[in-house]
Amino acid sequence: MCGIVGYVGHRQALDVVLGGLRRMEYRGYDSAGVAVLDGAGSLTVERKAGRLANLESALDTTGRDAFTGTAGMGHTRWATHGAPVDRNSHPHRDSSDRVAVVHNGIIENFAALRAELEAAGVELTSDTDTETTAHLIARAFDEGDTKGDLAASVRTVCRRLEGAFTLVVTHADQPDLIVAARRSSPLVVGVGEGETFVASDVAAFIEHTREAVELGQDQLVVIDRDGYVVTDFDGEPAQGKPFTVDWDLSAAEKGGHEYFMLKEIEEQPDALANTLRGHFESGRIVLDEQRIADQDLRDVDKVFVVACGSAYHSGLVAKYAIEHWCRLPVEVELASEFRYRDPVLDRDTLVVAVSQSGETADTLEAVRHARTQKARVLAVCNTNGAQIPRESDAVLYTHAGPEIGVASTKAFLAQIAANYLVGLALAQARGTKYPDEVAREFSELEAMPAAVHKVLSTVEQVRDLGRRMADSKAVLFLGRHVGFPVALEGALKLKELAYMHAEGFAAGELKHGPIALIEEGLPVVVVMPSPKGRAVLHAKLVSNISEIQARGARTIVIAEEGDDTVRPFADELVEVPAVPTLLQPLVSTVPLQVLAAEIARTRGYDVDKPRNLAKSVTVE
Ligand code: M6R
Repeated sequence: MCGIVGYVGHRQALDVVLGGLRRMEYRGYDSAGVAVLDGAGSLTVERKAGRLANLESALDTTGRDAFTGTAGMGHTRWATHGAPVDRNSHPHRDSSDRVAVVHNGIIENFAALRAELEAAGVELTSDTDTETTAHLIARAFDEGDTKGDLAASVRTVCRRLEGAFTLVVTHADQPDLIVAARRSSPLVVGVGEGETFVASDVAAFIEHTREAVELGQDQLVVIDRDGYVVTDFDGEPAQGKPFTVDWDLSAAEKGGHEYFMLKEIEEQPDALANTLRGHFESGRIVLDEQRIADQDLRDVDKVFVVACGSAYHSGLVAKYAIEHWCRLPVEVELASEFRYRDPVLDRDTLVVAVSQSGETADTLEAVRHARTQKARVLAVCNTNGAQIPRESDAVLYTHAGPEIGVASTKAFLAQIAANYLVGLALAQARGTKYPDEVAREFSELEAMPAAVHKVLSTVEQVRDLGRRMADSKAVLFLGRHVGFPVALEGALKLKELAYMHAEGFAAGELKHGPIALIEEGLPVVVVMPSPKGRAVLHAKLVSNISEIQARGARTIVIAEEGDDTVRPFADELVEVPAVPTLLQPLVSTVPLQVLAAEIARTRGYDVDKPRNLAKSVTVE
């Protein structure tokens, strides 16, 4: 939550920072702001509540010429402390307007810091936790050992802060540098020719450089146009971890699509292929990073998948495969509940933490809790070097590329594929599958990009359906077996994008309550199992459909091509290719993504930036 960017170099900082913010707005859009320092140490700030477009209009009114300078910073906010109004927008400044700060995260002891500042006569002008840091840094800069040294001043203040934070700080008296610091919130450095960047995400500077450096926990970086220097919060020299970003600007742009989500839906075949690539070598499944001994993997006797939102649904899908392949009990748990209920964990427990961003606060805390209990943690993550993989014993990266739409699409499909690879790696380690069986499962996975590509031919049919469903008050989703988590995912997509009441149910539960919701014209989306692969469940779902149709429901059926049995019960039929049962979520989810996006679009909502949400949920 919150996107930050900082720049020191040879270009106009305002242009660079605004370019970065445009690609970081997915992290929050309650307000946006910029600060630019000119070489003479004059600090100019503009900030506006609402979307980045509001800030850009304000800049047009003020005149962009006022923001001349080659060092600057920007922020796009998801509000935590204080309403989304101008005065709570970042950057925040100290009373003398010499320090400017942007912040991502929550400073948990801000009330005590605020009281201390007020007792010292400082007048705070916002309701935020962030503003306290601007005043504290300014005071440190003016006195004692840290006098005149911005980096030392920021370190002193960071040592006093509790919670998760990334801070980017400028001081008018040191206009040629910017200081940034992080604890449990993301921060990457971009290294260009005669210019250096800091940001929450490489997307902010990918247009200028693909050379990046990830910072460790409790590290601080000073950037200037010649490069960067990293220390810890005590001032001891430290090392960042350099990496080269393996995608380019086009991946972070709409590329002619009306909205990112539609582009990302269409990228799903590539996301799957890239996630699988290189993970089956010399007849064996290989992870990206493995700091768990093979013997320890063999000894695993229980698996927990912990995750939030769509990532949690990917875990629910994986449970069917991992239990089937590995003969291991698998529990799938919302990360926000996990550590609060004293789960039974020990060194033979494998905790699989699934997260697109790798920075979701609840998932990160679940990882930390698992590790204190000696469990092994394997991260499935889409973001290179994010905090969750950094703190895990093994990592499997999904290579879905940057996902800008707030609703998870290609990352979700890639998570399912990666979770399956985890299952196959475990089956291989435990010997519950012969090598040729692992090879066969992998080759079935390898056929999925083509199958998903085929489903994309239904996009226009589903968009048309979405336009006709846009007036609905509620939609129910039903599924069984692996179709049940698909139903949950379809409902989540509709809630978050179309602000419509939507519920996913296991179809077998219908008669235990949910059937009371059925009324004339209520749309019910049914995810059908294969008539061949799961004949018994298929027959039961056909009965369920006929029961709800008899009570007036309008049935929208996602079924395998050639499934003629279900056709008479389907008011609308969307056909997906026949694939092995466990892989069916990879095809049946796609129409549900398109449906939610089109309903939202027809209702006039911003498909990529649904209200109240942000892409990365870095606070609890
Ligand atoms: O970055 P993560 O995968 O940890 O994020 C988890 C959820 O916040 C995320 O999947 C969320 O539910 C999406 N908006 C769903 O579309």
